[in-house]
Amino acid sequence: MAQRRFLITSGLPYSNGRLHVGHVAGAYLPADIYVRYLRATGAEVRFICGSDDNGVANLMAARKENTTPQELSTRYHASQQRDFAGLGIEFDIYGGTHQPDYVELHNRISQELFLSIHKKGLFTKKRTKQLFDTETNMFLADRYVKGTCPHCKKASAFGDQCEDCGAQIDPLTLIDPVSTVTGSTPEVRETTHWFLRLDQLSDRLQAWLESKRDADSAGATWRSTVLNFSLGQLASGLRERAMTRDLDWGVPVPLDDPDAAGKVLYVWFDAPIGYVSFTAKYCAEHEGDWKAYTRWWKDPECKIVHFIGEDNTVFHALTWPAMLMADESYQLPHNVVANSFLNIKFPGQEEEKISKSRGRAIWVEDYLGMFDPDPLRYYLTAIAPETQRTAFDVDDFLARNNTELLAAFGNFVNRTLTFVHKYFDGQVPPVGERDDVDRAQLAACKDAADATAGHLEACHFKAGLSAVMNLARQANGYFDTTAPFRSRKTDMDACGRAVNVCVQTVRTLTTLMAPFLPFSARKCLTMLRLGDDALAWDQAVVELPPGSPLAEPVILFKKLDAAELFEA
Ligand code: 2FM
Ligand code: ZN
Repeated sequence: MAQRRFLITSGLPYSNGRLHVGHVAGAYLPADIYVRYLRATGAEVRFICGSDDNGVANLMAARKENTTPQELSTRYHASQQRDFAGLGIEFDIYGGTHQPDYVELHNRISQELFLSIHKKGLFTKKRTKQLFDTETNMFLADRYVKGTCPHCKKASAFGDQCEDCGAQIDPLTLIDPVSTVTGSTPEVRETTHWFLRLDQLSDRLQAWLESKRDADSAGATWRSTVLNFSLGQLASGLRERAMTRDLDWGVPVPLDDPDAAGKVLYVWFDAPIGYVSFTAKYCAEHEGDWKAYTRWWKDPECKIVHFIGEDNTVFHALTWPAMLMADESYQLPHNVVANSFLNIKFPGQEEEKISKSRGRAIWVEDYLGMFDPDPLRYYLTAIAPETQRTAFDVDDFLARNNTELLAAFGNFVNRTLTFVHKYFDGQVPPVGERDDVDRAQLAACKDAADATAGHLEACHFKAGLSAVMNLARQANGYFDTTAPFRSRKTDMDACGRAVNVCVQTVRTLTTLMAPFLPFSARKCLTMLRLGDDALAWDQAVVELPPGSPLAEPVILFKKLDAAELFEA
């Protein structure tokens, strides 16, 4: 079979703040698990991410911190990159849409795509009226105006939506609008923008999304949340959408038109192009030719899968594919995998939304200062918000670490390896005459490898992890039933036979846990004296020969009981 090829992306985080556990659970950890798994199956994979540096949100954040957007984005880019590395989320490249080493290629590819769509006649140039803040000399993006809702008359509406009645709002209809940047009353001014003809692309989007109702060749389907939301949007009709902004921070609009002066591309136009420009940069660095990005982006043999948080769905399942369709030379995403948001629950408090502004979050940097990465990877996968919101509950995190990771998993590995060292000179004991119980345990290893693969192919990460944990639990049951701790006193053959099966189970668990718990899998490889090739999925049930020397056991998971460390 030809080698499978995948380009995997994680939504580019805005480089205007630190990362919290909600970010990790949404677009990054599941993508990393998927990439590690695909690589274990022999697929060729590139895993692309980087910072979303442009746009008004970064500009405002810089203003708040009294710095420039360049300084701000470079600082947070570095902090986010450190956090990802600390969690073992290993991108092939971590670019940045306005980072010094990336901005030139990024602007070039973004501008080329804009021009290509322009040439196809799929932008309309229109004069529009917008609210303008005369103190900062800026047109105000929707989130930067507040006022009274024209529908429910409550004073809690932003320029795009009312927080109270949920109505979509045209900012010009807001009653008593106020700039959230300066508190001043904005005035209405005219400006020109280029609008993507989403209305003209709707039929093609519809046909493409309908085709995603069927499972792919690996049995994976799109999440119904993503598909239903996108088809729902189409059903209510897509309107053309402005793809330019009046700002001096971003990718300049590449038109030889006086109306384009001083304007940049909308951040949601250039951000997904970051996936392409970072791939191009990767190709430049590793293959000496940035244009080799086409092998990933324009060759249908490669499957492009985007991992995102749910709030990005409209941009990845509608706007971005529309841009690619309009250009006609790119292939479209194979899958868009979106997760819901994660709430938070601190000990003794109510579950609540993660809030950066109210400081209600668990920051990755703080977490990594206290704990190992794998328990967080474990917990965030076990409670993954794959179909609905879930909560990071601090007490539950500690409990699951102690009762699942440590008691079921760590304990089994530890008691097996300890036996090998105590009673078998640190070598895998002989196979002996296996009975039905032994064979059932080895069959369970094979079944778990197949079940985990099936779930991961379908991007059901939570189910995949639970298949691995079931094997660990079953393995503890096998240990208790065959009781080598008793047979070692009466029947060393029986004892060796059971311990052999336990070692083979540890070996299988090592490969199966690796996508989820890469740091612990590495420790297991060392204990089993195996190399990285042992992580290949088809090696998971290849038995270690009797007599193989094993290294001394090390502790895989520590008991955690410091709930107070998490106090917000
Ligand atoms: O929501 C966000 O954090 C955006 N910065 C995601 C961008 S994803 C992509 F398009 F780059
Ligand atoms: Zn309202």
